[in-house]
Amino acid sequence: VTGRGDLPAPPVTPLRWVGGWQDGSLEVLDQTLLPVEERVLVRRRANEVIEDIRRLAIRGAPLLGIAGAYAVVLAAREAIESGVGAAAFRPALKSAAARIGAARPTAVNLASGVSDVLFASEAGADPAACAGLALERARALEQRERAACESIARHGAKLLAGKGRILTHCNAGALVTPGLGTALAPIYALHHRGAKVHVWVDETRPLLQGLRLTSYELTRAGVPHTVVGDGAAPGLMRRGQVDAAIVGADRICANGDVVNKVGTYGVALACRAHGIPFYVAAPLSTFDAGTARGEDVVIEERRGDGRVYLKPGTSPDAVSTAEPAFDVTPADLVTAYLTEEGVKPGPRGK
Ligand code: MRU
Repeated sequence: VTGRGDLPAPPVTPLRWVGGWQDGSLEVLDQTLLPVEERVLVRRRANEVIEDIRRLAIRGAPLLGIAGAYAVVLAAREAIESGVGAAAFRPALKSAAARIGAARPTAVNLASGVSDVLFASEAGADPAACAGLALERARALEQRERAACESIARHGAKLLAGKGRILTHCNAGALVTPGLGTALAPIYALHHRGAKVHVWVDETRPLLQGLRLTSYELTRAGVPHTVVGDGAAPGLMRRGQVDAAIVGADRICANGDVVNKVGTYGVALACRAHGIPFYVAAPLSTFDAGTARGEDVVIEERRGDGRVYLKPGTSPDAVSTAEPAFDVTPADLVTAYLTEEGVKPGPRGK
């Protein structure tokens, strides 16, 4: 992928469909191994993609939607190859789609990407036509999300102009989209244009998406950044070292509540306390008009994951941990939402 004039090429490609529906496969950059190893897995079965989603080899809201969409194509091919017959094909695909859509509960994009492709496939006259339509729709979704990233980059670069010290939480960059990302997209645009930017990267406990992944892709892009412990952000703000915070989202509810990586709420509260703008960047596909407010969203609990980063001996063996993967930031802490359509003020920014 090459850059487009005012925008650079994405620093990394996390997912790629290669081939047609009959012979194609999904190439997956295994994000659990980054930054130490860049291993690309070749997936030909829907269950492999489900497992990759569960173990976070594929992660982040927009990418989950696209992976889910391609997994439906794989499921359609598997149903055809198993010889289920035309009558049983649709129920088989529907049940596979339900399993794919339920692989992780919180990001709205996964369930919506899957049901969009399933719906499009239903117009096919026979199973082969259904599989072909599913692939067409998955490709269109990928293209749409790539274009959304470019628009977010351009609108966001205007929004952040002159705010050179930017804090972000978790990873909402090229690794979670087929393009430049969401929260990181404006930063890539500004850097590409020669603006002076420096990113404070929250390490993002417990799975360290900031330390491992945001830092990995900012390094590849040559964007200056510094990783800090999650608890350091309020202190940086108090010392006047942060001009703005920008994060992605896994789901934005009808009332504007933002569901995002655990720790986001704390960043928003600290921004409010210090009069610093708090921006949420997300494509329209992450807005869920069907969910009234943050409290209605199922927050994934990742049992035991928190122990992954602890060296043996760091804690008593029997220590009990609670590991919500996400939290809810109430709409009234949001200065503005940044989407492909532009900047929409949140209650705090009005
Ligand atoms: O659990 P993850 O790594 O899939 O969570 C992803 C996030 O919360 C991202 O930071 C994000 O903002 C959503 S994806 C743009």
